[in-house]
Amino acid sequence: MNREAIVYYLPGCPYSTRLRVALTLRRVPFRSVRFRDDEEGLPGSARSTAATSCRPRCGSATRGCRTRPRRRSPRPWPRRLDRFRKSWWHGRVTEAWWKSAVVYQIYPRSFSDSDGDGIGDLRGIEERLDYLSALGVDVLWLSPVYPSPQDDAGYDISDYQDIDPVFGTLDDFDRLLAGVHARGMKLIMDLVVNHTSDEHPWFREHRDWYWWRPPRAGMAGGEPGAEPTNWRSFFSGPTWEYDPASGEYYLHLFSRKQPDLNWENPEVRAAVHAMMRWWLDRGVDGFRMDVINMISKDPALPDGPGGDGSAHYLCGPRIHEFLQEMHREVFAGRPRKLLTVGEMPGVTTDQARLFTDPARAEVDMVFQFEHVNVDHGPSKWDLKPLDLVALKAVMNRWQSGLADVGWNSLYWNNHDQPRVASRYGDGSPLSAKALGTVLHLHRGTPYVYQGEELGMTNAPFDSIADFRDIESLNHYAEAGPDALPALRARGRDNARTPMQWDASPHAGFTTGEPWIAVNPNHKEINAVEAVADPDSVFHHYRKLIDLRHTEPCVVHGDFTLLMPDDPQVYAFTRAHDGVELLVLANLSAEPARVDVDPAWLDAEVVLATLPDERSAVLRPWESRVYRR
Ligand code: NOJ
Repeated sequence: MNREAIVYYLPGCPYSTRLRVALTLRRVPFRSVRFRDDEEGLPGSARSTAATSCRPRCGSATRGCRTRPRRRSPRPWPRRLDRFRKSWWHGRVTEAWWKSAVVYQIYPRSFSDSDGDGIGDLRGIEERLDYLSALGVDVLWLSPVYPSPQDDAGYDISDYQDIDPVFGTLDDFDRLLAGVHARGMKLIMDLVVNHTSDEHPWFREHRDWYWWRPPRAGMAGGEPGAEPTNWRSFFSGPTWEYDPASGEYYLHLFSRKQPDLNWENPEVRAAVHAMMRWWLDRGVDGFRMDVINMISKDPALPDGPGGDGSAHYLCGPRIHEFLQEMHREVFAGRPRKLLTVGEMPGVTTDQARLFTDPARAEVDMVFQFEHVNVDHGPSKWDLKPLDLVALKAVMNRWQSGLADVGWNSLYWNNHDQPRVASRYGDGSPLSAKALGTVLHLHRGTPYVYQGEELGMTNAPFDSIADFRDIESLNHYAEAGPDALPALRARGRDNARTPMQWDASPHAGFTTGEPWIAVNPNHKEINAVEAVADPDSVFHHYRKLIDLRHTEPCVVHGDFTLLMPDDPQVYAFTRAHDGVELLVLANLSAEPARVDVDPAWLDAEVVLATLPDERSAVLRPWESRVYRR
């Protein structure tokens, strides 16, 4: 009990965080854990050999910050520790390891282009792994890289077991995966099995693997209104496409090139399970499952009110059965610890408890949408200003709904959402930090979407010619030029502009012509600047990630919302094992007084984005974390 674990900030430092997490999880009786960033006493083989060009530095403005400089080298671990890491981190950690993990989403088209064709690729990602390792994230989620006609930017897959040439080859993929694992991170794939591309061989060869229906009774196929149901597609227009050759329609909840698979057919399920096993056998660490709560549909496919068929395809009658079967067929008995994330539009907290209750063996966490639906009306294009009180109420409901059973995913951004720094913030780095503070201190697993850690903002698109996304283009085609302000505010392309690596003409993303315009603000907002500036959004995120790795209260603490009706301040506490944290953030452009126990203002400051952390008034977009 009197022993002390010394954790060295070795080259490739994130491992040391994991070591500490591993010790914490197993309640190994070390009295204290001391952190060293020198290399004295280490075997020669463990010493760093290369300085890194993107070495992060601890922000001097932050009091009580436990982060330390990190280094990297081609061989970051002494062999003995390497064996230890492999057995603990990749093998036998019995706890839900992902509770203390942070996931980083990569949208490959827009991340990093290695070959100058203007589209990001796998080698480009590989070249950036040290950057991701320096940020400290644990898991990378790759948006789809499979062969695809790219009607919906890769979410229309024509071959589940290969890589689209635009992104590289399976060999490139294996190299990338090895590079990810060598840095102690994991990689999860996007699993898109509610639908395939209409160019997938399954669609030609297995008609009964899809939903086919005759025209509405008494009507001729192809005539307006003859669709089998009145459902509207997520990408405008009806969810049915007429096939003159057979005289029937097929169902597509998304584009007409994304026919929905019929999971009622056991052959479909077996084929999907086999494909998933193939990727796990290749070494991937799990899946983010695209719209997975849409795979069970009411086979009667009835009309829905006003064309909204969601009651008949969201969390349908066999959804739990299908996910439990998938778990048995694909994941059960695998020695490595994996991660499954279910993207579930429209899911309620009660349903999410069922999906993520470990005893039911369905998925580890759900990705829900309520908190990104508070600033629009019934359609995502009906803009409303953010109501902070409503946002807090939604987040609070999810915190309490999954407090004792199940687990939350925490996110502001992904490839479908506008950039949060522009959306809930004012575009400034301070607002990006405040939003990051709030999100990462909730209970759940945080997701960082590429560029969020830099405070990237929405794109200043001038005209419809700047947009690329099928959802925006279809909406514009239907609604006309008046739709442009909504597309600018809510369009998915805001998230898809190239990652801003440096201040050079194409932001260091490509040497060619980028497939979508680079945001001109890359001259100020870019990774090179951010990594060099200890006060940047990047370093703030790095500290938040480190805090999750080192402070069990962030992972396990009970959540209590404070000041629920305040329209400016987001305040809450976390409590675990005698430790309490207070999070304060002013999510407004005006100063705001905090109404909390005044003793808190004398507590230890763990993170603060402005000096004078003892004041009861928060300046615009200021955020702080205290511990006592
Ligand atoms: C959800 C994905 O996140 C989105 O990008 C895609 O368009 C739809 N599912 C269809 O796959």
